[in-house]
Amino acid sequence: MAFLNRFFSRGSQSFVGIDFGSYELKAVQFTMTPRGPQLEHVYKIATPANALKDGVVVDPPLVGEALRQLIAEGAISARRTVSAVAGPSVVVRQVSMPHMNERELRESTKYEAERFLPYSVDEAQIDAKILGTAEDGQSMDVLIVAAQKDLVMSQVSALQFAGLTPAVIEVEPFSMVRAMLTPDSPQYEQNIAIINIGAASTSINVTKGGFVPFTRNVPIGGNGMTKAIATGLNVSVDEAEKMKREKAAILSQRDDQPVAPTVTRIFNVITPPLTELVTEIHKSLDYFRTRFRGETIEAVLLGGGTARLTNLDAYLSHELGLPVSVANPLEISGYNPADFPADYLKEIGPSLIVAAGLGRRDLVPEAGRVAVTA
Ligand SMILES: Nc1ncnc2c1ncn2[C@@H]1O[C@H](COP(=O)(O)OP(=O)(O)OP(=O)(O)O)[C@@H](O)[C@H]1O
Ligand SMILES: [Mg+2]
Repeated sequence: MAFLNRFFSRGSQSFVGIDFGSYELKAVQFTMTPRGPQLEHVYKIATPANALKDGVVVDPPLVGEALRQLIAEGAISARRTVSAVAGPSVVVRQVSMPHMNERELRESTKYEAERFLPYSVDEAQIDAKILGTAEDGQSMDVLIVAAQKDLVMSQVSALQFAGLTPAVIEVEPFSMVRAMLTPDSPQYEQNIAIINIGAASTSINVTKGGFVPFTRNVPIGGNGMTKAIATGLNVSVDEAEKMKREKAAILSQRDDQPVAPTVTRIFNVITPPLTELVTEIHKSLDYFRTRFRGETIEAVLLGGGTARLTNLDAYLSHELGLPVSVANPLEISGYNPADFPADYLKEIGPSLIVAAGLGRRDLVPEAGRVAVTA
């Protein structure tokens, strides 16, 4: 339960960001240059089937073996890792507490966390950071992050099986913010929704000024659409996955172009899971607006592999009444076009929204830096 800033003497050591996705394991490594972080290595491989459940690595040796392959094939040179936990057990809360020093805070945090954690504090890995004096001038604002110990330890175990050294395990929302927004970004001081639509789950976050006042994880993602195609069109899951990538599109009544019958059939079968997802996004953003009265959400950044579903951005923009853009976190950081063609980065970028932020952790300044590792 310690702040891990001390690990980070800027640029003197290399870290690799590892995202434990249930669909793909991803690695991103940057190098520090006088112009800022520059992309050095990026790679991803399929996650072994059923090896991850709700973010927990249920088979650490198997995932460790896959991580070893990820590092070798991706020519990753760093051995120290930054990874993140996500899912229903991960809690991020800003609370008001009386003034105290960091040591006293660590003790008090336990009692504070007891009030809102959906599991016992003994099972929790908790960390806290003082953000500053609260508006009343008396107390201080404190950011508390917590995750279930089992979840954290399962990642540590898989990384160690792969011969890697887990330097930091943080919580996913912060990685995404770091991947997409820096203090000099025009959107940094606005409320921006960052939505990561993966395979098994979707994470919905609202960020402003480097902080994440709202985060929520729902167990809906690309898997549901693949299953709907497999069942609806009576094809295997592998075939459904291929069809989704090649032919799936969200059709609009305003569009009067002729559409192939398969495209229409796919659209019809993915509509129910898609609608369910949009309902959850709506609910989350409405909750944010109610909870933080007077705050308006200005735009949506869409990450995760499912962000590449054709027309999803336009559809969500129409549904939410907000500008929506597909995230390309790799383009934001510098890269050498001779090493990485722009088209390739655009294609893989959205799914690397977490890994890219993890890889940048020691290279960019930020406000709310907290980790949950021991
Ligand atoms: N071109 C595409 N069109 C539609 N869906 C796509 C496309 N490319 C990838 N996907 C989907 O994106 C999902 C994988 O996204 P991602 O890599 O972000 O997931 P993950 O991080 O491994 O999973 P999770 O975060 O849910 O554990 C899969 O469901 C895959 O089918
Ligand atoms: Mg993911």
